[in-house]
Amino acid sequence: MKKTQWYKDAVCYQIWPRSFCDGNGDGIGDLEGVLSKLDYLQDLGINCIWFSPLYCSPNADMGYDISDYRNISPDHGDNELFKKVLDEAHKRGIKVIMDLVVNHTSDEHEWFVKGIDKNSKYHDYYHWRDGKGNKNPNNWSSLFEGKAWEYNKENGQYYLHLFSKKQPDLKMENPEVRKEVKEIMKYWLDMGVDGFREDVITFTSKRDGLPNGFPIPQACGMEHYKDGPRIHEFLSEFREVLDDYDCFVVGEAPLMTPKNALKYIEEKPGQELDMMFHFQHMEADCIFMDCLNKPFSLKQLKKVFSNWQESLYGKAWNALYMENHDHPRIINRYGSVEYREESAKSIANSYMLQCGTPFVYQGQELGMINIDLPNVEDYQDIFAVNNAKTLKLFGFSDAKIEERLKTSSRGNARTPVQWDDTDNAGFTTGTPWMPVNPSYKDGINAKAEIADPNSVYNHYKALIKFRKENPIAVYGKYKEYCKSSKELYVYERTYEGKKMLVICSYSDKAADFKAPAGYDLSKGKAILCNYETNPVSANGFTTRPYETRVYVFD
Ligand code: NOJ
Repeated sequence: MKKTQWYKDAVCYQIWPRSFCDGNGDGIGDLEGVLSKLDYLQDLGINCIWFSPLYCSPNADMGYDISDYRNISPDHGDNELFKKVLDEAHKRGIKVIMDLVVNHTSDEHEWFVKGIDKNSKYHDYYHWRDGKGNKNPNNWSSLFEGKAWEYNKENGQYYLHLFSKKQPDLKMENPEVRKEVKEIMKYWLDMGVDGFREDVITFTSKRDGLPNGFPIPQACGMEHYKDGPRIHEFLSEFREVLDDYDCFVVGEAPLMTPKNALKYIEEKPGQELDMMFHFQHMEADCIFMDCLNKPFSLKQLKKVFSNWQESLYGKAWNALYMENHDHPRIINRYGSVEYREESAKSIANSYMLQCGTPFVYQGQELGMINIDLPNVEDYQDIFAVNNAKTLKLFGFSDAKIEERLKTSSRGNARTPVQWDDTDNAGFTTGTPWMPVNPSYKDGINAKAEIADPNSVYNHYKALIKFRKENPIAVYGKYKEYCKSSKELYVYERTYEGKKMLVICSYSDKAADFKAPAGYDLSKGKAILCNYETNPVSANGFTTRPYETRVYVFD
């Protein structure tokens, strides 16, 4: 199989199926809905879709608890319909990658159900341990709810769950489990999918042990499973399957640094993953988790951006993203609701023009914002259970905890996509499974934005087009300027004698921008601006709130 690096030229769009578009009126997004929006996606210009899990699932963690890896959940359709989506996407030049969630299954997966019996071969598919007296086998915490061990009355043992207790961890150390994973990969690749996003893949090798004191309570034990002892062996084994297909894999990797990432993604023989979703740039306004907030620091964000750009250039490939289904909307975090459109565009320019493959999360291209719901439970996010405990430990008051849980909830990114200004924003003709953000009535919807040349949608569309037509945006070398600025993020890309200067304000305050030495802005062409289309400028200007401009020099 001739492997190509088509993913380097791709712009990916993440679909979180439950909230994308409902085709059958049951209030839950489905594949009929996706089919009806493929033209929309083609028009936006993206050329790859990443589907968050579509498989059968009891939805304890909204699809990330899988009970059948080979079948599409009836909530979303069936395998035949999925095949149709795949074919229709391919016809439009859009590749499709699936989520591969193999750190854990659902506790309703037949492997787990059968494996409760100690004599079943499936028992060894999971991490079962005897308790220490009537205590847990060790003191690891779950990232989602309390301790990482759950007692099972039937067999008198405890099983490991790093996430919710309905998500028992698979024992990747068992070769039979790895065989199953490889067969699942082949199954979807043979159907025609073009790769995978691998869920918390760097957590899949575990070693027994007691923690040595990770600072965050819910990460207690993490040093024994983050980049565990056999992780590189497992990923190399999976790579053998992937090498038979012209596909790519992007691994999700919490707490990853560029230096460590190179062990997985460096482009040399033995490369395990094609790129990685690290989290460092998502921590510019929080400590490790969204709920532990601190004031947004542009300097921190810039440092992370530049570190990844510089460390990987020429050696490995970056995955670029600012939103996904696990974080509140970026405008509420790093931008401004008051300057919604300006900040959405500035943020878009700031990450999409870096070197790497950009990912756009559904609704991000519309500048969707967080929702304000009356109760924490309304956000339907299981993560809240542990987050509440963590905030309590850090001494937050009950009122503050409530406020933090709402603003940091993953539910903010999971409200239905706003398609138009009809009932339920055109997401469903039924009752939506989660409330629709009323902002669709204020012009934040696809229909209105398609019609408005200055909308966030049309900015993304122009950005994607520019990236497709200009290799400098994909492959150019990166250099940061104005490093000490607290308001401006400025970087250049250079490629085959061409230059591009990206200027992005992350502030509602005016800031003085002076072009770096050697630049004459009057000789460049300003594009992708968020105030006037052709701003006139000598070699500097005072930025307006969240102003962004890109100067290209041929
Ligand atoms: C990461 C996924 O993105 C998140 O949504 C999920 O809850 C956890 N992994 C567990 O699968």
